[in-house]
Amino acid sequence: MGKGIFVVGTDTGVGKTIVSAGLAMTLKARGLKVGVMKPVATGCIGSDQRLVSHDAVYLFEAAENEYAPLTSPFRFRNPVAPSVAEIYEQTKVDVQTIKNAYQQLCHHYDYVIVEGIGGLMVPIQKKYYVANLIRDLGLPILIVSPIGLGAINHTLLTVDSAIIRGLIIKGIIFNRAPLVNFSLAELTNPKVVHELTGLPILGSLPELEDLDVENCKFGKLGQVFKDRINIDALLKPEPTLVLGY
Ligand SMILES: Nc1ncnc2c1ncn2[C@@H]1O[C@H](COP(=O)(O)OP(=O)(O)OP(=O)(O)O)[C@@H](O)[C@H]1O
Ligand SMILES: [Mg+2]
Repeated sequence: MGKGIFVVGTDTGVGKTIVSAGLAMTLKARGLKVGVMKPVATGCIGSDQRLVSHDAVYLFEAAENEYAPLTSPFRFRNPVAPSVAEIYEQTKVDVQTIKNAYQQLCHHYDYVIVEGIGGLMVPIQKKYYVANLIRDLGLPILIVSPIGLGAINHTLLTVDSAIIRGLIIKGIIFNRAPLVNFSLAELTNPKVVHELTGLPILGSLPELEDLDVENCKFGKLGQVFKDRINIDALLKPEPTLVLGY
């Protein structure tokens, strides 16, 4: 196990899908066969027999994958934590099924990108959190954090939680950096987080036009991600230590 990366957000809606898709496009352009996964998706649409996850479709299209059923084995309609959704819907999350799907993707692809559900401490089942799933899949994490005010606190809380739970952090990407008129927080947050944690900052993804997960629009994501994000830390085989933290 452990062939790829688990993309974690400091919160829900912070850009995990966008970053996962950009990463998939960039790695593909480098010649890797990239598989994608959103193991549990909530807030899905469609009929009960055929629930569709916008995130899974977006990732699937970005990576040009071939094995749709493996991409998102568990889908729920209600936009709540999986442990809550399964009480109200006719589906139970089975971790072994997720592990099997992930292992099959590892068999088909060189590198597998798994998008998290909300943040690290979202319960998938009672007392089984996203962080537990990451450990069970044996993957290191990439943290996505909005660049603005609050980034230091939210990023350090996520880093702390990851360390406590024995996860390996490969780096941090800051999202939605304005192209002009940076606030002081936006200008300084990446450097401050690096100084406080010692973790690699892989870069900042700017606010982009024509980017829409629900309507599967990619705009210039592939090109901008390739130009602005340094993904070499992700590809290093050795774990990234948290130095000076
Ligand atoms: N850099 C960006 N520029 C413009 N829009 C962005 C950017 N990053 C994210 N968005 C927009 O913000 C919304 C949330 O982003 P995204 O879906 O990637 O978040 P998420 O962390 O995956 O959310 P969820 O927790 O629901 O999975 C999307 O509609 C997306 O289009
Ligand atoms: Mg998402």
